[in-house]
Amino acid sequence: MNPQRKLLVVLVLLLTAVVAHAQATITKTSFGKTSADENVDLYTLRNVNGVEAKIANYGGIVVSLKVPDRNGKFDDVVLGFKDFEGYLKNDPYFGALIGRYGNRIAKGRFTLNGVEYKLAVNNGENHLHGGIKGFDKVVWTGSENKTKAGPAVVLTYLSKDGEEGYPGNLQVRVVYTLTNNNELKIDYSATTDKDTVINLTHHSYFNLAGEGNGDILNHLLTINANRFVPTDAGSIPTGELRSVAGTPFDFLKPTAIGARINQDDEQLKSGNGYDHTFVINGRPGTLRLAATASEPASGRVMQVWTTEPGVQFYTGNFLNGTLTGKSGKVYQRRFGFCLETQHFPDSPNHPSFPTTTLKKGATYKSTTIYKFSHKR
Ligand code: BGC
Repeated sequence: MNPQRKLLVVLVLLLTAVVAHAQATITKTSFGKTSADENVDLYTLRNVNGVEAKIANYGGIVVSLKVPDRNGKFDDVVLGFKDFEGYLKNDPYFGALIGRYGNRIAKGRFTLNGVEYKLAVNNGENHLHGGIKGFDKVVWTGSENKTKAGPAVVLTYLSKDGEEGYPGNLQVRVVYTLTNNNELKIDYSATTDKDTVINLTHHSYFNLAGEGNGDILNHLLTINANRFVPTDAGSIPTGELRSVAGTPFDFLKPTAIGARINQDDEQLKSGNGYDHTFVINGRPGTLRLAATASEPASGRVMQVWTTEPGVQFYTGNFLNGTLTGKSGKVYQRRFGFCLETQHFPDSPNHPSFPTTTLKKGATYKSTTIYKFSHKR
C-alpha cells in the first residue's frame, strides 16, 4: 500500500471509531434470575463521551459506572459485586435504590392520621432502608428510553398496601438518565391511594480512584451545609439540628474525609465515623449543590445536586474486609463513601423535620444528579 493510501485508511478507521464513540447507546442483557425465578435485566447506558453505567432492574442497582480521569483513563467508580449472585445478599446496599424509607425509623413505628403503623424491624430495634425486603431487593419493571439529554432507563414498581408495614398502594417511578454532560441523573416520583410516608434515595458507594483502589480518606469533600443531624447510639436523630461550626462536621471548605474522622468526638464515635445527615443550605425543592468530592491522584470530581433537604454522608464504616468486589479486590473499611440525598432519618417521629408524608392524590417528586468531571 502506498503511503498516501495507508494514511487514508488510517484516517477512515479513526473517523469510524470517533463516530461510533460519539453515539449514545443503551442495550439490555440478562443479569440472572431471582430465587423466585424472576428474570433480571442489566441495562448498559453509554453517553456520547463514552461514560458508561450498568443498571439492573433488581433493586435499581447501579452495578458499574465508568468515568474518565484527567488523562482520559476510564475507571469504575462505584463498589459492587462481580455477578448477580453477589447482589442477592446485598447487605451493604451497594448501588441500590432505597425505599420506602431511606435510613432509620425508630423502633419501626410511627403514627399517621391517628393510626400507629408497625414496620418490619431489621436493624437492632429499628427499621432501616425500607425493611427486610426493601426496594433494593425487588424486581422493578424496566424500559429503555433514548432522550435528548442521553440514554435513560425507566423503572417502575408497585409497592402494595401493607408491604413491610407501610400504608397505601404506592406506585413508584425512577428514571436514571446518563446525560451527555457526564451526569447520572435520578428522577423519582410516586403516588399513593392512602396517606403514607416516603423517603427515597440512592445508595452507591463511590471511590473516585476506582473501586477497590484503597480507602477514600484522601478524597477532598465539600458539603454545602451549616447544620447536621446529631444521632443517638442507635443512629436515631435526637431532634436537634446542630451547627457544624467548630466540629469535625464542618465541610464548608474542601477537607480530606480522613482529616478528622478519628477525632475524639462523641458523634463520630457513636456513628463509627461519618454516618450523618447534613442539612443542605438553600431551599428544599430547588435543585442545589449539596456536595463536591474530588480525588487528588486521578483528578476526578463528583458534584451532587439535589432537591432534597438533606444528604446522608456515610463513610463505609461497616465494610470490614469480608466482601470481595467485582474486580477481585477486597473491600476494607472505608473503601467507599455514600452521599445519599434524602429527608432526615426518622422524620415521621419528628414533627419539626421537613415532612415525609405523602397524601393520597399528591405526587412525590425528587431529583438528584451525580455529575462527573476532572481537574487538570
Ligand atoms: C446508613 C448506615 C448503614 C448503611 C449501610 C447508610 O445509609 O446510614 O448506618 O450502615 O447505610 O447499611
